[in-house]
Amino acid sequence: MKRKRDTQQLSESKSHPSGGLDVGFNSGPSPKKSKHGDTVNGSATTTTEAAQPNRAKNDMKQRLQKILQKQKPKTPVQPKLPKLADTTPPPKPKISTKAASSSAPPTKKEKSAPPSSLTSLQQQMQRKLAGAKFRWINELLYTKQSNEAVKLFSEKPEMFQIYHDGFRSQVESWPANPIDIFIDYLRRKPSSTVVADMGCGEGKIAQTLHKHLQIHSFDLASPNEHVIACDIAKVPLADSSVDVTIFCLSLMGTNFMDFVNEAYRILKPGGELKIAEVISRFPDVDRFVIELQSVGFKFVKKDDTNKMFILFDFVKASSGANSSKNSAKTKSKTNKKKGVESPAAKDSESKTGEALLKPCIYKRR
Ligand SMILES: C[S@@+](CC[C@H](N)C(=O)[O-])C[C@H]1O[C@@H](n2cnc3c(N)ncnc32)[C@H](O)[C@@H]1O
Repeated sequence: MKRKRDTQQLSESKSHPSGGLDVGFNSGPSPKKSKHGDTVNGSATTTTEAAQPNRAKNDMKQRLQKILQKQKPKTPVQPKLPKLADTTPPPKPKISTKAASSSAPPTKKEKSAPPSSLTSLQQQMQRKLAGAKFRWINELLYTKQSNEAVKLFSEKPEMFQIYHDGFRSQVESWPANPIDIFIDYLRRKPSSTVVADMGCGEGKIAQTLHKHLQIHSFDLASPNEHVIACDIAKVPLADSSVDVTIFCLSLMGTNFMDFVNEAYRILKPGGELKIAEVISRFPDVDRFVIELQSVGFKFVKKDDTNKMFILFDFVKASSGANSSKNSAKTKSKTNKKKGVESPAAKDSESKTGEALLKPCIYKRR
């Protein structure tokens, strides 16, 4: 009986119009028979022996029951479990975003229940819900301009943790994590090396190497003291101040070429640009390389021996190499500031972005 009801709730949640993001799940306890044959349904008890032929016998029985009820404490009624959306474990680290720290509206406070109080079905539902939220945020980051991502993360800072919980579980199934390859590489660098980790996530590079190198880590939100919340299209670093710039799976956003231009700005001449991206994102690897060369980077090498991702090494060519490209970009930025950017220009920018790198959409697992 209970299993049947649970199955129904599962299929109902599957067909929820919100795509699983707002699944209500209200599973009260199953009806129980008390010692006296009463059905306990959470709020009322119904006597099932009301039609005895012998009235005297019945009266006697009722009196006896009253006495027993006075002596015994009432059967405790189990509280209804909160909706699934309210049972997410308490948020882990305190996340701050630039705007969020001061002006973000408070989000709906989530009531927490100890995970042990959830049934396995509820835990399964909770995982599905977290997976759906992760995929939703992921898709949004890949299909929108970075200013929209900044806005979203400022309004809902909890997005960062949801995204990274999901991302972590994806990475676990990979044969290798490119961030570890970069960490091994940076370990061998002299201590004077200045590194910019663009779209650093939880800042694993800085967490591992901050005592050894000078690392600037940037992401849409700041989950810890190593990470500065900002749009990597515009980071708070001076021109030509960085030796190594890393983009580890972070060329998200349809305007990711703005991130590449920003890397060019902050890198010292001869500085290194290192990129890791998911292999399936590239419709044409050569075209991607050519586009980066036109920004002013010199292609050094690529490593596509891994099944999941490609690694690229570029260096910033000596100054002036991308002057024509940058002057066109400066013009477009000036126009944007003046508010004269046409919708067509915005559209063509995102089309160019997609022609170079497709969004990375994770499948349901
Ligand atoms: C797939 S995760 C990778 C995180 C980390 N680099 C790693 O490899 O573990 C991509 C990260 O890029 C960040 N990101 C995407 N667009 C960004 C933007 N415009 N500004 C700052 N961070 C951005 C996301 O928030 C996310 O944390």
